[in-house]
Amino acid sequence: MGRLDVRVRTNLDSVVQYISRDERHCETVTIKELSLSGALVSGLTTQLPELFAIRPVLPGAGEVELRARLVRRSENGAAIRIFYSDKKTMQALWGHIKGRLAPSDDCPYCGHPDDSREGSCDRCNLYLNFGKDSYLERHIENTFAQRLNIRLNRLNLEHIDKIIDFVDSKLLKIKHRSPDSEFIGTSEGMLAVFAMIRKVAPTEMSVLLLGESGTGKELTAKALHELSARREGPFVAVNCAAIPETLLEAELFGYEKGAFTGAYATKKGRFEAADGGTLFLDEIGDIPATLQAKLLRFLEDRLIERVGGSGSRKIDIRIVAATNRNLQKAMVEGGFRADLYYRLNSFTIKLPPLRERGEDKVRLARHFLERFAAAENRRIDFSAASVEAIRQHRWPGNVRELENKVRRGFLMASDGLIEPACMELEEDFHSAAAHPSPDPQPGPPRAESRRESVVRALEQNDYVVARAARQLQISRPSMYALIKKYGIKKDDAK
Ligand SMILES: Nc1ncnc2c1ncn2[C@@H]1O[C@H](COP(=O)(O)OP(=O)(O)OP(=O)(O)O)[C@@H](O)[C@H]1O
Ligand SMILES: [Mg+2]
Repeated sequence: MGRLDVRVRTNLDSVVQYISRDERHCETVTIKELSLSGALVSGLTTQLPELFAIRPVLPGAGEVELRARLVRRSENGAAIRIFYSDKKTMQALWGHIKGRLAPSDDCPYCGHPDDSREGSCDRCNLYLNFGKDSYLERHIENTFAQRLNIRLNRLNLEHIDKIIDFVDSKLLKIKHRSPDSEFIGTSEGMLAVFAMIRKVAPTEMSVLLLGESGTGKELTAKALHELSARREGPFVAVNCAAIPETLLEAELFGYEKGAFTGAYATKKGRFEAADGGTLFLDEIGDIPATLQAKLLRFLEDRLIERVGGSGSRKIDIRIVAATNRNLQKAMVEGGFRADLYYRLNSFTIKLPPLRERGEDKVRLARHFLERFAAAENRRIDFSAASVEAIRQHRWPGNVRELENKVRRGFLMASDGLIEPACMELEEDFHSAAAHPSPDPQPGPPRAESRRESVVRALEQNDYVVARAARQLQISRPSMYALIKKYGIKKDDAK
């Protein structure tokens, strides 16, 4: 490695300024030797703190301000390190140094005369032709790693996390790995998901999205739409569990005037609304058998028929379906048609639960916090304990739960800092650390308390079967089966 720096003798009046015990101190000193990264200062009488400002007056350029650090003191004066400043200041500094160099194109170390030299000297390999105009730039480039290293040594783990996080998100954007800047993830599982999205999006294949509640199924459906040739067309999302079963068919396929009581005018369904675009059928595990058959027919011939209609019409849509249920199990148990399952299952993307996404938890939390803070123009950060609590929590509600907790933390924070308690993560954090709990098992409740759980879920959801089923993480047909099995009536549930 060659020499990167050249030091010249000088005699620059400078003011040193620093703050100690809330008092501002100023002292006039002389810079006796100067290079781009350091100086020898004489005339200091006080005890300097580690960091201070020094303002040399450069002939022709006037006063410039540099930040500096004391390296050592001796009888010759104080040796200081100069931190890199803005480009203009560095140019002024270099202008002064260059003006004091002996006018020669020879290598300053071995005297080798070669002014075509741009890199290290051919003979001694010591750096560099200081006379070249490009020197300052080359010097800055060459010392970059060195300076970075010095600064890294001063960072704590929290800072380093933030930097890695920042670089990760920038890299993701550059490499277009994430389909959308709002779609966060650098864990192995999410990178695999992004790769699948990019692969299948431009095709016309139907896609089935699986994953627990709040893992980003809708976000994935939107990304599939945005990365497809249909992006100019509509994206229509239907939550099949939120629409009462009796209305679902009319809602999806539309109806003709007079098709049923209340059908005062002909209405287009969601299939037609999505023509030319993407139809996202959320909670597909909840659709009743009759509609399963109709959906299967559509997937085969791409024709729909409105309720009460006499003819069918061709619709050009791509179907993306999602569920947080175990469809395979529902299929075996008879709640979901096998032929429809296989048709939808031709390309499946499984979204990993948040607890399996490693540092994505913290990345996502920071992403949400940044968004909330930017909207209100406030500066807020997580405490170290909060970051740890975010890592430890099991996140049964996945990304949605995380977003809600961060929102809560943002509202409850004081002094610009979110503590675990602000997110209601405190107890959880302690107990999780003390007794790591196994993953919560989705599925029907245990037999002994089954009837009770079913009644309670119905009660808590105003007897809306789909919502109660969702709470118990079972399919709507399974819920009906349980209601029948235990002979539960609405009055029982009250
Ligand atoms: N990887 C991610 N990056 C950024 N935001 C995300 C990510 N995953 C999910 N979200 C956000 O979390 C929330 C829940 O995501 P989404 O609605 O897509 O989940 P879901 O799987 O459809 O949930 P549910 O099964 O409950 O309908 C949304 O606000 C979404 O924007
Ligand atoms: Mg959803």
